[in-house]
Amino acid sequence: MKLSQRTNDALQKQLMREIEASYLYLSMAGYCDSLGLGGFAKWLHTQSSEEWEHAMKFRAYIDDRGERVTYGDIARPDDDFSSVAEVFEKALENELSVSAAIADLCSLAEEEKDRATQAFLDWFVAEQVEEEKSVQSVIDWLKRIGDSQQGLYLLDQQLGGGVEGGASTSTGPSTEGTGSAR
Ligand code: FEO
Repeated sequence: MKLSQRTNDALQKQLMREIEASYLYLSMAGYCDSLGLGGFAKWLHTQSSEEWEHAMKFRAYIDDRGERVTYGDIARPDDDFSSVAEVFEKALENELSVSAAIADLCSLAEEEKDRATQAFLDWFVAEQVEEEKSVQSVIDWLKRIGDSQQGLYLLDQQLGGGVEGGASTSTGPSTEGTGSAR
């Protein structure tokens, strides 16, 4: 079954959205690096790589369905951050908007009875749950430590994998990026 024009357009748009998400995380990582927070930067670079992988999944799927992939413009990513907390609030905002876009895509595929696209999108639905959770857990930790520079330093160590048992401990957020299966 050929992709409908609407679904094809929506998938191509989502591909660009994933690339932009990758670009945004890269910008966020650069800001954290500029503050000397290498652990936060490492975590954000991992997210950036994962978003790139998401984009490549869309690229491959569009190609598998016999359509030509075309690429649009990429807007300059937001780089106007005044704190690490703001970075993560913006990251969550972006993840929520990606989740909404994936939900819209699911509705479209359902409407068009495109079962293959529905099955393809299932992975992204689960992935977004993990990504939102992952970003939220960092936000929660940032709220707990408040203005403590020592707390920020320890969290940076943990996100960078510098604390023994960091990824699996219940005392801090995951250092494994989204941690979802792929
Ligand atoms: Fe691939 Fe987190 O959106």
